Amino acid sequence: MTAINNMTEKEKIFKQTFGSDAEFIYRSPARINLIGEHIDYNGGMVLPAAISLYITAYVSFRDDDKICFLSDGFDKLYERKISDLEYDKSYGWANYGYGVFYTLIKKGFKIDRGLNVFITSEIPMGSGLSSSASLLDLVCYIIGDAYGLNLSAMDVILYAKETENDYCGLKCGIMDEAAIGLGKENKAIMLDCASLDYKYIDMDLGEYTFAILQTNVPHKLVESKYNDRVTECESALKILKDKYSVKNLCELPMEKIDEIKSVLSDNILFNRTLHCISENARVKEFAAALERKDIQKLGALLNESHESLKNLYEVTGKHLDVITDIARKTCAVGARMTGAGFGGCAIALIKKSDFELLKNAVTEEYYQQTGIMPNVYQVDIVSGPRRIK
Ligand code: GLA
Repeated sequence: MTAINNMTEKEKIFKQTFGSDAEFIYRSPARINLIGEHIDYNGGMVLPAAISLYITAYVSFRDDDKICFLSDGFDKLYERKISDLEYDKSYGWANYGYGVFYTLIKKGFKIDRGLNVFITSEIPMGSGLSSSASLLDLVCYIIGDAYGLNLSAMDVILYAKETENDYCGLKCGIMDEAAIGLGKENKAIMLDCASLDYKYIDMDLGEYTFAILQTNVPHKLVESKYNDRVTECESALKILKDKYSVKNLCELPMEKIDEIKSVLSDNILFNRTLHCISENARVKEFAAALERKDIQKLGALLNESHESLKNLYEVTGKHLDVITDIARKTCAVGARMTGAGFGGCAIALIKKSDFELLKNAVTEEYYQQTGIMPNVYQVDIVSGPRRIK
């Protein structure tokens, strides 16, 4: 067999496009969040985990000063000089890649050789499983490794987040980049988004598991609605921070909730604040229940979290409400949206032996109620970005 026959289809595409073999192959996972939604940017606790859906990158150095990106999801090959990486909308998805180069160069890292990067992804885009954070972490990891920059896992996470905030313009918190960057097999990551302290919690639940329910409603307006929520929380904090001596909404005391209501006067700002305080408390309860493998408590907290995101934070929408209802009614001990919401995915805590039952019921009833075919699947909990060749 010749060398070319041993190549995978992707490596062949790489060679045909760039005229050389891929020197390195890297991959980075997607993530789910078990609980702690929309509170990472409010200084709260989150409990995500990296999952076995991957973005893979085939990489080689170039002899010139160009950074080239190709994705098998899109036809266009993007090329830019290292010295000219300012944000430009016309570079589409490749802005996530160029943005990380831009951030690192701005920080003073020496990046003096061109690079070819071919991206292939099995993370459904717009599904709320963080394909963008995975790509940002992946590119940051690649740059750190290929150019020998000695970046720690936390460096990768922080530079990726900075890129998403300042270059791509989404005011997201740190959860997605951290969930992926700190990913560990069979562990959930309990992250304090204010201090960045974290610990791992075992996710082995014996005969129980989490299934993923994909609504297949792309969360289209997610960026503007997401940024609206961030702004609302900033407005509430501005009113409350001096009176209660807090730096973020999640620090506010639940015992003072009636008083907080009268101080805020605006009902929407109050609802957003109440979600933050109560969701943060739920994360702590959930972590304790996960440690003692208290399935019923985990289920109840998942449901409460979803209700709070539906009624107080208003980020679920019809499709996520329908899909979680069906799951609960069928066999799930609990179910909730995961990620930013407004479409995307939910998770359901089920008995492993009930998976087919859940899949059939959700597929049939969700289609009946919405006219859209969902996807229902199981994943493994895995480690973060890696070089695999
Ligand atoms: C998106 C953001 C995260 C987080 C979640 C909601 O995934 O990127 O930072 O705010 O929404 O919990």
